[in-house]
Amino acid sequence: MKRPFVFINGAMSADGKISTIERKQVRISGTADLARVDALRAESDAIMVGVGTVLADDPSLRVKSDLLRRSRKKRGIPDNPLRVVADSRGKTPVDSRILGAGCLIAVSGSAPEENVLRLSERCQILVCGDDRVDLSGLLNRLYKMGVRRLMVEGGARLNWSLIKEGLVDELYVYVGAILIGGRDAPTLVDGAGFRADFPALELLGVDPLDSGVLLKWRIQK
Ligand SMILES: NC(=O)c1ccc[n+]([C@@H]2O[C@H](COP(=O)([O-])OP(=O)(O)OC[C@H]3O[C@@H](n4cnc5c(N)ncnc54)[C@H](OP(=O)(O)O)[C@@H]3O)[C@@H](O)[C@H]2O)c1
Repeated sequence: MKRPFVFINGAMSADGKISTIERKQVRISGTADLARVDALRAESDAIMVGVGTVLADDPSLRVKSDLLRRSRKKRGIPDNPLRVVADSRGKTPVDSRILGAGCLIAVSGSAPEENVLRLSERCQILVCGDDRVDLSGLLNRLYKMGVRRLMVEGGARLNWSLIKEGLVDELYVYVGAILIGGRDAPTLVDGAGFRADFPALELLGVDPLDSGVLLKWRIQK
């Protein structure tokens, strides 16, 4: 089944955590890394997060730089990439910053009708999967909508499912000069965890950035 090129971009502490034990957002990146992330967004056709990230961080997921938005416009594409949320039950709050034109919520057949109706006033809805969002089906639908380059910005459980299903091509991890700790604080990839057949990574690059380091990996098939 055809799907876009998919990469995960995330920032973690030196001890591998992406937020606190209370799932509160932490500033892990410095200014250079934030600019790099903004450029990655501007080069993508769509950006996806899980509903856990929407509930925890309320991200806007738009391109911040005016210059980058203008350059997209010049290329004849919308100012911002499509914003996609994997949200099986339609739990995204209606006042979330991610909503509005250019936002798509992927729900499953198990989403209560009232949630879907409420959200459909603020964004496009795609039903994909019976109980949970079928990620492979969703990526195929996005491909058919013209998405060729999909940036995934977390969180831990969505990253896990995508990697487990073999749907990720590359992984970019900024390791910041900070420790967060906490046994139950989310890591870059949570979920059930692999017991064997661990996905192998090929190192594509190591770049010092701000006071941390950017690691780029290709996930081997
Ligand atoms: N540092 C970073 O780079 C970074 C980036 C993003 C987020 N974060 C942090 O990560 C945390 C959020 O991560 P999270 O793991 O709680 O949430 P998440 O991965 O953003 O979202 C997980 C939710 O997505 C929904 N989902 C729908 N279909 C799915 C599927 N097929 N597989 C997996 N999930 C699916 C599930 O809820 P339903 O079953 O209800 O659909 C699931 O609970 C927050 O603390 C946030 O601050 C950090």
